Amino acid sequence: MNNYIEKNKQRFLDELIEFLKIPSVSADPKFDGEMQKAAEWISQKLTDAGLDNAEICETAGHPVVYAEKIIDESLPTILIYGHYDVQPADPYELWNSPPFEPVIKKTKIHPDGAIFARGACDDKGQIYMHVKAIEMMMAEGGLPCNVKVMFEGEEEVGSENLETFIKENKERLAADIILISDTSIIANDIPSVETGLRGLSYMEVEVVGPNRDLHSGVYGGAVANPANVLAKMIASLHDENGKVTVEGFYDKVIELTAEERDALEAAPFDEEEYKNDLDVNAVTGETGYTTRERAAIRPTLDVNGIWSGYIGEGSKTVLPSKANAKISMRLVPDQDWKEISELFEKHFKAIAPDTVKVKVSRHHGGQPYVTPTDSIGYMAAFKAMEEAFGKTPVPTRGGGSIPIVALFEEVLGLKSILFGFGLDSDALHSPNEHYGLFNFYKGIEAIPLFFKNFAELSK
Ligand code: BES
Ligand code: MN
Ligand code: MN
Repeated sequence: MNNYIEKNKQRFLDELIEFLKIPSVSADPKFDGEMQKAAEWISQKLTDAGLDNAEICETAGHPVVYAEKIIDESLPTILIYGHYDVQPADPYELWNSPPFEPVIKKTKIHPDGAIFARGACDDKGQIYMHVKAIEMMMAEGGLPCNVKVMFEGEEEVGSENLETFIKENKERLAADIILISDTSIIANDIPSVETGLRGLSYMEVEVVGPNRDLHSGVYGGAVANPANVLAKMIASLHDENGKVTVEGFYDKVIELTAEERDALEAAPFDEEEYKNDLDVNAVTGETGYTTRERAAIRPTLDVNGIWSGYIGEGSKTVLPSKANAKISMRLVPDQDWKEISELFEKHFKAIAPDTVKVKVSRHHGGQPYVTPTDSIGYMAAFKAMEEAFGKTPVPTRGGGSIPIVALFEEVLGLKSILFGFGLDSDALHSPNEHYGLFNFYKGIEAIPLFFKNFAELSK
């Protein structure tokens, strides 16, 4: 750890704890006031770190926080993106400590301690590394590049208003590269740099049967039960080889070459440990692909939520009048999320028996993304990881999605570098989310190295 971090580590952590205490849940309007508070808090910290023109930019939804430091127009500019919103903390009862009262605890994977709170890793802990890295660079000799910072409050709900914001602020956001810490490394002793993200298409379906809930004895057997029908329809969305049956789903999928697959497969991975972590006896998925491939380079379809009929205490004999599900598909290049949403809708309606009516609606989505590994940005990140960890990093493909990344390229013409420091086992979106202190400080150390490398490679 370098001197500046060593000297200030407790203060950095105390500040992060303060940030994590603000329940900035974007999905639930109950927390709108807290979203505003979080935006103001982080904006103040950007000013304190030495940035200029910090602004809370109102949108049709939650605000975007922006700040910048232009030291010399002739130097390259790095645009940092991240999000200060977090996922809902539910179910609260499964947390070992309250989600917005951060505590530090040691774990097997984090022997130096990890901070437990909603948003610790995704993404408040990771955006705060950037704020502190900027503070450190400004305090110790200045920035080697210009920097612009944009933190949004709607990543966890689809970034729809950010799309408008970037379209309206193209000039203000002009830069050479986008740097994002919102992904994972393989392990604390195996640094990695992600080369891509999956896209997303998120749908909701409703299967409607009789015009009211019915007595399941009086009508059962003679009238279609929407819950039974929905279950059967969902079951048919995969074939016996684990392939998605939606007509046309794989048409645009780019198959990786054997060399590309070998390169990704060369990264260390312990399937036993993976299963143990999740308490599952076996893994499953598309035939012909490994566990890691299934979760990164292959498209998938999953039910995220399903509900119908009586789910209260005890039993109630009822034939429900409708059944619903939320279904998401993770996409890979060159699938197009709008096209896939259409294909899904068409397919789902086509497989419905005529005993029910089916409604299909669309939530948000986003395109898949890949970063070219021969670009200056990727090389600068690779080298920074190598310098910070003292170990050659491994290129990986991430399974998650950050829908705005493909739009950054489309609207701003900029590539994004995925410079994340979390671990997949940090329980993002789950109860007991946490972020290793080692990872937090390592990120603060690595970010200035990216700045330095990017400035040098841009010459
Ligand atoms: N930071 C995650 C995405 C992520 C996590 C990428 C780990 C790679 C590794 C991000 O905040 C997220 O959760 N994205 C959502 C999409 C969004 C539209 C809700 C996702 O992937 O489900
Ligand atoms: Mn995130
Ligand atoms: Mn997330």
